[in-house]
Amino acid sequence: MKFFIDTANLDEIREAQDMGILDGVTTNPSLMAKEGITGEKNILDHYKAICEIVDDNVSAEVIATDYKKMVDEGKTLAKIDDKIVVKIPIIKDGVKAISALTAEGIRTNCTLIFNAGQAILAAKAGASYVSPFLGRLDDMGSEGLVLIEQLVQIYDNYAFETEILAASIRHNMHLIQCAEAGADVATCPLKVITGLLNHPLTENGLEKFLADYNKGKN
Ligand code: E4P
Repeated sequence: MKFFIDTANLDEIREAQDMGILDGVTTNPSLMAKEGITGEKNILDHYKAICEIVDDNVSAEVIATDYKKMVDEGKTLAKIDDKIVVKIPIIKDGVKAISALTAEGIRTNCTLIFNAGQAILAAKAGASYVSPFLGRLDDMGSEGLVLIEQLVQIYDNYAFETEILAASIRHNMHLIQCAEAGADVATCPLKVITGLLNHPLTENGLEKFLADYNKGKN
C-alpha cells in the first residue's frame, strides 16, 4: 500500500518524508489556500517546492472546468516536474481531459469520486489514480468504505490499471479498513500517519524497559 500525505504544508511533507514511508502528496485548492498560497505563480512555485521534497506522485489540481483549459492547465502543471500527477474532477470535460492527457503520457488523478459509476468512467479514460472521498461520504450518512470495497472488486473484475487512492481519510481506522479492503493508496493528514504509531502498551512497555535499564546502571 502506498502512503500519500494530504496537505500543502511543507513542514508536514518533510516530516513524513523523513520517516522514510512517504510515496507521494495530494493537494487541492482548499489545502493550498489553507497555507496562504494564492495566485498562479505562487501555486506553481509551491508545487515545485513540494516536488523537491518527495520522490514522486505530487497531485496538482486544475482549476479550469472546460476541456481545453483543463488540458492546457494540465500540461502546464506536468511541465513543473515529472513527479506531477494532474488532478482532475470527475465531470464530462474532465473525463475528456483525462483521456487526452493520458494519450500524451501525462499521469492523472481523477478526484471527487463518490460512486462506482464515476470511478468506472475515470478508469475507462485511463486515469492513473481515482480518489474516492471516504470521510465526506461518511459525513453525509453513507458508508465510504463500501465504495472502496466496490471499486476494488470492479477494478479487479476488469483488470483496470487505475489505482484506487482512498482520500478524505479522517482517522486511523479509515486507513486500516482501506488497507484491509485492498485500496492501492491512502492519502491522509500527518496526524493520521503518525497516529498509527500509538498504543499505550508500546508507550508503557518502552517506559518500563528504559527504567529497568537505568536501574542496572546504579
Ligand atoms: C484528496 O485528494 C483530497 O485532497 C482530500 O483527501 C479531501 O479530504 P477532506 O474531505 O478531509 O477535505
